[in-house]
Amino acid sequence: MMCSTTIRCSTLVLCFIVSFGTTMGLYETAPHIIVFMADDLGWDDVGFHGSDQIPTPNIDALGYNGIILNRHYVLPSSTPSRTAFFTGQYPIRMGMQGEGIQGGEPRGIPLNVRILPEYLRSLGYMTKLIGKWHVGYYTPQHTPLHRGFDSFLGFYNSHVTYYDYKYSFQNMSGYDMHRGDAPAYGSTDKYVTDLFTDEAIRIIQYHEPSRPLYLQISHLAVHAPLESPHDYGHYDRQFMHIREINRRKYARMVSRLDNSVGRIVQALGSRGMLKDSLILFLTDNGAASIGKFRNYGSNYPLRGMKYTLYEGGVRGAAVLWSPRLRKTARVCDDLMHVTDWLPTLYSIAGGDVRDLGEIDGVDQWCMLNGSLPSARDRLLLNIDEISKTEGAIYKQFKLLRGSIEGGYYDGYYRDIERLMPHDHKKSIQEDMPLYTDTVLKSAVSQSITRHLGDPVTQPSTMIQLRREATVNCRPRDNFITCNVTECLFDINNDPCETKNIAEQYSRISRELDKFLEHYGRNVKRQIKISVDWLADPRRTNNTWEPWLISGENMLNNSAAQLASLTYCVHIGIILVTVTCNGFI
Ligand SMILES: *[C@@H]1O[C@H](CO)[C@@H](O)[C@H](O)[C@H]1NC(C)=O
Ligand SMILES: *[C@@H]1O[C@H](CO)[C@@H](O)[C@H](O)[C@H]1NC(C)=O
Ligand SMILES: *[C@@H]1O[C@H](CO)[C@@H](O)[C@H](O)[C@H]1NC(C)=O
Ligand SMILES: *[C@@H]1O[C@H](CO)[C@@H](O)[C@H](O)[C@H]1NC(C)=O
Ligand SMILES: *[C@@H]1O[C@H](CO)[C@@H](O)[C@H](O)[C@H]1NC(C)=O
Repeated sequence: MMCSTTIRCSTLVLCFIVSFGTTMGLYETAPHIIVFMADDLGWDDVGFHGSDQIPTPNIDALGYNGIILNRHYVLPSSTPSRTAFFTGQYPIRMGMQGEGIQGGEPRGIPLNVRILPEYLRSLGYMTKLIGKWHVGYYTPQHTPLHRGFDSFLGFYNSHVTYYDYKYSFQNMSGYDMHRGDAPAYGSTDKYVTDLFTDEAIRIIQYHEPSRPLYLQISHLAVHAPLESPHDYGHYDRQFMHIREINRRKYARMVSRLDNSVGRIVQALGSRGMLKDSLILFLTDNGAASIGKFRNYGSNYPLRGMKYTLYEGGVRGAAVLWSPRLRKTARVCDDLMHVTDWLPTLYSIAGGDVRDLGEIDGVDQWCMLNGSLPSARDRLLLNIDEISKTEGAIYKQFKLLRGSIEGGYYDGYYRDIERLMPHDHKKSIQEDMPLYTDTVLKSAVSQSITRHLGDPVTQPSTMIQLRREATVNCRPRDNFITCNVTECLFDINNDPCETKNIAEQYSRISRELDKFLEHYGRNVKRQIKISVDWLADPRRTNNTWEPWLISGENMLNNSAAQLASLTYCVHIGIILVTVTCNGFI
């Protein structure tokens, strides 16, 4: 009980601080920031990269009218990638570089690391998270409401089922859908992609447009399990060109994700917020084409997939759109890393990046706004001391060492439909006039025209951008592995990572060796704490909940009592302030 009082109080304390921010005139400049984070979406499963099976006209429209970020690097799986996004730091700094957090694992982003929503909140933003968390929830202090979010509707674990929101791990299974820090019982039976979209629209409809909004929609889509919407009536006909049943399911899931983007952009338009918005769409990592959590997504012709440091795992599909961008309708081939979003978004929001202290991400706003080249020419892909894989990029060179699962995921995984014996039936996507027409008719294009009065990118430009954003290379059947000797690839000229040029370019290899060594010295080793059976949902009404009351940095009893007393004195004052300012 005492714990929950403390929680509520501290939320109010933050609101109080925020209310000062509102008087500082940031509102005129700070844009609404909308982030769509897709899960395990394949490089080759979006129209703007040339997919001819699954139409994604809304995401494509964002890219064609904004910027296609074609060398946007992420971590190879969910927990590390989300950690990097939230903290602006390489996950090796926090021991978060390895496998995803599993049910009952007492692990998370350390509480002494401030994260993106906390920084944005300090600038006066209203901060909302919908969807996946997956960066730790073993104590209440690790959950979204205590990490800078004003509201949360979503799940804590790596995934849930699409209709009844269950997560299972080993012999434990339970419900995982929460609103705030309480279980959101009674919301099942709605397809989860729609549940999240409806929530986002509701937030936008009730949002006071003069206050900057940070809205992150971390969709479950298109993570396994393969569950497509039940109400697909017209989808059914739409995807008849895909005969492989699992691929077709996946296509419907991607399509509903695209629909979410369209509906949310439309809602921003109706509310008059679109002209002040910045919209980022990105995937946390590449598709899981085979093996663990297989979703039938495709990163082809890129090599490898989720879990690997090959391009298929870490070169993530991403686009950025905003009326505030000076140079749009372009493909950006500058190097970007998922850690760059913290400083970039903080800077766009009016913050001074020096407030962020020592981080790995760099402010890319000047590059994105078209005035400077990328602020980075190198990046660390990851160092995982447990799986013994590591990699880094310098300019067009990429150094890799090690493989997981004995190289099982190191190949090229063409989508299964194309591997079927029958001829590949042509889909509408190969018909260019039809394709560009669906993009022009998408909710995103229509909203740009209707609410901004701006002309949208025309078909000839779309086709050109699509061509530029499509990777053309020829995979090799007898590919070389990097599990015995290290590999150096020229990813500009050999994006399929077929030729190991480590010997020809020994000087570059040595540079990258040194770069990796430097970071190697800064690796915080992963702590693999075994699963804590106290987390068993059976103990908490079959629901996954934080199961420990104290974690690192927690106050001990006497200190906590003192603190809660002070907080409660604050409440009175704050409630008055809050009412006066018209918040909550
Ligand atoms: C689940 O499995 C673990 C280890 O195998 C065991 O200790 C625990 O008691 C099991 N829990 C239940 C509820 O069966
Ligand atoms: C983008 O660049 C243009 C031209 O240099 C500038 O006028 C505009 O303010 C910049 N936008 C932002 C949000 O910084
Ligand atoms: C390296 O990968 C190949 C397959 O890609 C596998 O056959 C071999 O066993 C692996 N070697 C080691 C040492 O993991
Ligand atoms: C336990 O969970 C069920 C749904 O499974 C819900 O209806 C019920 O209200 C919950 N009970 C408590 C005490 O929260
Ligand atoms: C608990 O509080 C006491 C007294 O303030 C302090 O000496 C002790 O280090 C604290 N323990 C922890 C684990 O923080």
